[in-house]
Amino acid sequence: MTTISRRGFLAASAAFSAGLVTAPTLTRAAAADGFRTLRAEPVSAPLLGPDRPTAGLWGFDGRAPGPVLRHRVGETLRVRLDNRLPMPTALHWHGLRLPNAMDGVPGLTQEAVPKGETFDYAFDLKDAGTFWYHSHQRAWEQVARGVYGVLIVDEAEPPQVDQDLLLVVDDWLLDRDGRFVEETLGALHDWGHGGRMGNVVTVNGRVRPDISVRRGERLRLRLLNPSNALILALTFGSLRPTVVALDGRPCRPHPVSENGLLLGSGQRADLMMDVDAEPGARIAIADQAYDDPAPVAHIAVADDVLRETPLDAPLALPGFEAAPVLDLETAVTADLLMQGGAMGTMDEAVYNGQRMGWRDLVRVNRVWAFNGVAGDLDTPLLEVPRGRTATVAIRNDTRWPHAMHLHGHHFRIVERNGRPVPDAPWRDGEMMGSGETMRIAFVAEEPGKWLLHCHMLEHSAGGMMTWLRVT
Ligand code: C2O
Ligand code: CU
Repeated sequence: MTTISRRGFLAASAAFSAGLVTAPTLTRAAAADGFRTLRAEPVSAPLLGPDRPTAGLWGFDGRAPGPVLRHRVGETLRVRLDNRLPMPTALHWHGLRLPNAMDGVPGLTQEAVPKGETFDYAFDLKDAGTFWYHSHQRAWEQVARGVYGVLIVDEAEPPQVDQDLLLVVDDWLLDRDGRFVEETLGALHDWGHGGRMGNVVTVNGRVRPDISVRRGERLRLRLLNPSNALILALTFGSLRPTVVALDGRPCRPHPVSENGLLLGSGQRADLMMDVDAEPGARIAIADQAYDDPAPVAHIAVADDVLRETPLDAPLALPGFEAAPVLDLETAVTADLLMQGGAMGTMDEAVYNGQRMGWRDLVRVNRVWAFNGVAGDLDTPLLEVPRGRTATVAIRNDTRWPHAMHLHGHHFRIVERNGRPVPDAPWRDGEMMGSGETMRIAFVAEEPGKWLLHCHMLEHSAGGMMTWLRVT
């Protein structure tokens, strides 16, 4: 396939983008006493517009990405995964505190669900927030094809907003005919570098949609980066959104940084803002993580005004101050050294119990390692009793950024590059630049086996994966 520059391709496909697309309708899932079936299956989706369906995608219930599931905190989620994909799959509920058997990690917490079979996921929704579900089996292929969706858990008393909008920013690698590129799935180049990158960026499955708002409206924006490896640093032009939650967890309200809202693979943010732009304005939401800022969507301000004086309720989510108490004195601790990748220093690692040299590792696509082990899951990084604090000191000794993710828990960074970090937000994922160190701390929750991995999906499959046991 010919390489097409991301921006060149975006320009070429602009003609096919649907004109005005608002965020998808958020439908409430089935009643709490019944299972809602999610049928995982091959689909075509109108990424480039209704006349140019993209073949080769996989998703749920005829769409890719899958449907938005919506519940209220305290309800029980009941989903029956019906696997009609041509290979086994399993669903991970990213960012949720849940029983280990529901975490959806084949080989660790359940068997992968074979083609033609079903698996029931049922668990109580302990936390309100913006979460997502995705395949955790061959995720670098299945998530790239669209086997994911959003899970919104509403607060018992949601903050008053005029629009609750979802912005799922994903990238897709499509060929000139708009088909999903299969040929490069698993390509060593992607695995050893920054992961599989797309050439078409969509928001809610459309290229550069317009989001219609009115002056004076209070918006809540729920952003998700479900991509394999794309890094987002989103800017909002003259709008000044307030960050009110990160990775589904309410945080101390703060403005989006000058450098943009940084979202690595798997990360989410909830923003709130009062639209103060003039009627008729069209404001780009742009990604400035790579070279020049590239618009991914536009906020289109309608001609009529909703209100001139903004609402006076605070731009914040309830409960942002409540947080588990870390006991760093008695914490169980571990070190995690990240190595490998192109231009790195790794010359050997253990794979399948065998010490192997770099060349042999390259032959089996195991080009990354944690503590000298390329993704074997035989022994946990640490064991920690439920309720105890654990810390992991992580060093990124590679030439690449990574998006570290912990299953079943939210953690806080307590130290970054040798300096204490007071009052960091609670997150389930964090970006780390080349050469950086960070110490994360969390309180062990449900007993079981919980993954800790880079969420850049080629990196985790290539060896950046370990787990911890909560006893
Ligand atoms: Cu969203 Cu182990 O991943
Ligand atoms: Cu990585």
